[in-house]
Amino acid sequence: MLALGLLAAWGLVHLGLAQDNVKPKGSLEKVFPSSNKCKRCHERVFEEWEASPLSRSIHSPAFRVSLEEYLAFSGGKDKALCLRCHAPHINLFQDQIQTFVEQVQSGDPAIDGVGCAQCHLIKKVDRTSYMPVPKYEPGRTLFGPYKDFVQNKAHESMDLDLYRKSELCLNCHLAVPAAAILGKSNDLLGEWENSKAVKSGRECQTCHMPEQVGESANGENKRKVANHTFPGRIGKLRQEAARLDVDTEVKGNQTKVTVKVQSLVPHNLPTTHPGWARVVLDLTIKGKNLKKVFGEQRVYGRVYADTKGEKTVFDFKAVKVLEDTVLKPEETRLETFTFPTPKDTRSFDVEAFLSYASVAGPTPFLQRIEAESSKGSQDPVFQPIPIAQRVVNIPLQ
Ligand code: HEC
Ligand code: HEC
Ligand code: HEC
Ligand code: HEC
Ligand code: HEC
Repeated sequence: MLALGLLAAWGLVHLGLAQDNVKPKGSLEKVFPSSNKCKRCHERVFEEWEASPLSRSIHSPAFRVSLEEYLAFSGGKDKALCLRCHAPHINLFQDQIQTFVEQVQSGDPAIDGVGCAQCHLIKKVDRTSYMPVPKYEPGRTLFGPYKDFVQNKAHESMDLDLYRKSELCLNCHLAVPAAAILGKSNDLLGEWENSKAVKSGRECQTCHMPEQVGESANGENKRKVANHTFPGRIGKLRQEAARLDVDTEVKGNQTKVTVKVQSLVPHNLPTTHPGWARVVLDLTIKGKNLKKVFGEQRVYGRVYADTKGEKTVFDFKAVKVLEDTVLKPEETRLETFTFPTPKDTRSFDVEAFLSYASVAGPTPFLQRIEAESSKGSQDPVFQPIPIAQRVVNIPLQ
């Protein structure tokens, strides 16, 4: 009851904000042209974007099934909640929510999620609520980073400082669903503004849209451009996520291993949405013939409780954070493990392995994802993603 009450109140706040985004004249397709339309002149950008998670923001079976879970839970209230970031044109076309939902449910949506225009029509960011809303200015003018843009026949251009700033990304990366209820304790990024990286002038774009030299539009002069593959869980950026150091102390029959996990990320790791997002540290000890003799885990993430006080992996059901072990911006965490010293061997291996965990949740939820995926149990969401590894061989006297 409490959750629904709050959800309802929040729905009102949300509608209030959405009203500033007045429904424009013209059809959905006219205001937010499909990214395919930009491909003709921006082939490089298009291909990068197509390979990015942003082009798949309403496509994954995990998203489809969790959207259904949300719609069932919310009982038809604030149906647009999930789409306001995953297909943000809904913010201007709330009356077409049924079409959007059907598109997602089809499994092969013809509309874009976070397409080109969904970013390049953003004029400013409203940070007055916990969950900011993109402020669109629909029209023929596309906003971007260049002052000295070349004119073209398809659209007007205008430079906005916003496009070089983290501010633009905060529209969708600052806080998610249960934010209004949980407040600051559910922010995604943590105290990122105080990180060393940010203080030294790095924006989200510095790391997630790295600068390169290339054509900004087909046939134009080469200049500084921004990579649109949005590296994160996929891409090379991952190698800069964390450092692992291992210290081993053998004391007779007992051995103590201390793993130093140093996050190099200037925001929380993981960012805690969807609710099952976890980073896991696995320690494995391999003794005689490299057989595993000991293993233990540490988990970094947030554990939520619903109105009944039960644990849930669905952040939209959360009314409380039970546990928070997220690695804070640039945090160094020491983890100690003790175990019996391996026997009958001249040395043993200590393996520390850091990865993003695969999806977790109630069995029916996982079964539905499997059934919805063309890859079944091989869907990428069921595979952990490696971040860093360290293996040390310890000789025994
Ligand atoms: C309109 C909303 C929106 C805006 C604005 C936005 N994003 Fe995102 N972003 C998303 C959504 C939704 C996803 C998840 C896509 C998916 O379903 O995997 C995402 C995913 C990502 C990922 C991939 C994360 C991963 O797990 O690998 C990165 C990196 C990212 N965004 C960076 C940025 C940066 C940098 C900016 C600012 C320049 C930005 N985003 C602006 C909505 C947005
Ligand atoms: C405020 C913006 C925002 C809202 C609202 C939002 N999401 Fe997301 N979602 C994101 C971003 C950003 C990511 C990428 C997160 C990352 O990798 O750190 C994401 C990632 C996901 C993913 C994993 C990627 C994928 O596509 O499989 C799922 C599943 C998901 N969201 C489901 C939902 C559901 C269900 C709702 C509604 C209850 C929702 N989201 C509401 C911004 C949002
Ligand atoms: C998540 C938001 C987002 C999406 C989606 C997005 N862009 Fe961008 N784009 C940006 C930002 C931010 C910059 C400026 C980055 C910088 O200069 O640091 C930019 C820069 C550009 C530029 C100038 C620099 C360059 O790399 O050529 C062009 C052109 C452009 N985008 C076109 C597109 C097209 C076409 C698409 C779709 C295929 C697209 N963008 C999708 C955020 C986005
Ligand atoms: C007829 C060709 C053409 C089409 C179609 C086209 N553009 Fe462009 N666009 C250009 C040219 C040329 C430039 C200038 C590039 C430069 O200055 O390096 C440009 C510049 C841009 C910029 C940078 C503006 C700035 O001031 O920073 C963005 C962003 C952009 N386009 C987005 C898009 C999006 C999104 C679409 C699809 C809705 C699109 N464009 C369709 C030709 C086109
Ligand atoms: C100094 C570089 C740097 C800056 C600045 C930075 N990030 Fe990251 N970010 C990283 C690294 C490294 C990772 C981890 C890569 C990986 O393994 O996914 C990451 C991961 C992410 C992910 C995926 C994390 C997950 O748990 O799914 C998202 C989303 C993201 N960053 C968004 C942002 C946003 C939004 C900003 C700006 C407020 C930002 N980042 C600023 C380096 C940076």
